[in-house]
Amino acid sequence: MSAMGKKHRVHFDPVDLEIEVDEDETVLDAAFRQGIGLMHGCREGQCSACKSFLIDGDLQMDRYSTFALADYESEEGYVLLCRGHAYSDLEVELINYDEDNLRNAKPIRDLRTEVAALTDLTHDISLLRLTILDAAALDFNAGQYVDITIPGTDEHRSFSMATAPSSGDELSFIIKRYPDGKFSGLLEDKLDAGDELAIRGPFGAFTLREHSDRDLVFIGGGAGMAPILSVLRHMAETGNQRRAVYYYGARTPKDLFYLDELAELSSRLTDFEFVPCLSEQWPDDWDSLGIPGERGLVTEVVERRETDLAEKDAYLCGPPPMIDAAIPVLESRGVPHERIYFDKFTSTASA
Ligand SMILES: Cc1cc2nc3c(=O)[nH]c(=O)nc-3n(C[C@H](O)[C@H](O)[C@H](O)COP(=O)(O)OP(=O)(O)OC[C@H]3O[C@@H](n4cnc5c(N)ncnc54)[C@H](O)[C@@H]3O)c2cc1C
Ligand code: FES
Repeated sequence: MSAMGKKHRVHFDPVDLEIEVDEDETVLDAAFRQGIGLMHGCREGQCSACKSFLIDGDLQMDRYSTFALADYESEEGYVLLCRGHAYSDLEVELINYDEDNLRNAKPIRDLRTEVAALTDLTHDISLLRLTILDAAALDFNAGQYVDITIPGTDEHRSFSMATAPSSGDELSFIIKRYPDGKFSGLLEDKLDAGDELAIRGPFGAFTLREHSDRDLVFIGGGAGMAPILSVLRHMAETGNQRRAVYYYGARTPKDLFYLDELAELSSRLTDFEFVPCLSEQWPDDWDSLGIPGERGLVTEVVERRETDLAEKDAYLCGPPPMIDAAIPVLESRGVPHERIYFDKFTSTASA
């Protein structure tokens, strides 16, 4: 950690909150440090969830992706708070914020964990189970994530808990393996039960908004199963009555996993349907999978099956292109933009 720099005040509109920010930290991190949960996703300038408007003051940004903030937006005064450092007092207008998260954000902690087990869920997706070694379990909301430090480096990668908050000191993660991936590549054969991993969190705003009782549409693909499963498990445990359908995109039957548990969730939740959508290969007889599914890309299936979603809330999680394709489909079926919540699994920009 570098020596602390000069400090400035940052005032947020329209919520009328003020924090102190050191020049060396981002505005987002300074807010977390002071118990304020501003809207965020990746915290790496990749997703745009933290985009806000700078009304007044000198804010300068670290490197970010123009997918998150286009040049014309930055010229108009929009900024990314996860990349922004204050060099004077600032007046910032929040575009997106959630009253619940704003003042009741879960405290962020650094924890030591140990690999309890590492197993294959499919040919390229692993289940990583960690046991927390510190005394207190991680307090998080279903759907949140932690940063896992890549052993031997000061880099980290973000992974969503697949477990519900009740899981106590056992956290599980669903991770897609990239053979040359700095972290996920370790899952192949370089990480074993008993190895220690440092985690930091919880982060993320992909949590069920409790003030709504509308029916739910979940859309996910690949390892994007993780936070949705956490939310569904939590709903089942807490007796949540909201009706839900979950469209899950995969290529072939061998990309599917947890079918037994998803079928079982249908009996534990009030009204839940899991719809696997296979885009490249599908069984002649869906009964062989135990769960009926659909052919086609997940977005095509939603277009085909849903005509009116105006009264539903939508939660999307997975690779950015899937989310970018699904949002207009949901909007065309009537879901208002502000009721589409998503978690983009962006990848870390190479330095
Ligand atoms: C909020 C958030 C939550 C996340 N949750 C999860 C989760 O629950 N499960 C999960 O598996 N991932 C999740 N991710 C993505 C994860 O953080 C890593 O980016 C991912 O695991 C790749 O890291 P790596 O170190 O293995 O690869 P890196 O070393 O970062 O990348 C090395 C190479 O891997 C390949 N690669 C990496 N990412 C991609 C990609 N997205 N598409 C194509 N090729 C790629 C490329 O060849 C790349 O050059 C999440 C990301 C965010 C922002
Ligand atoms: S761009 Fe700031 S949180 Fe993703």
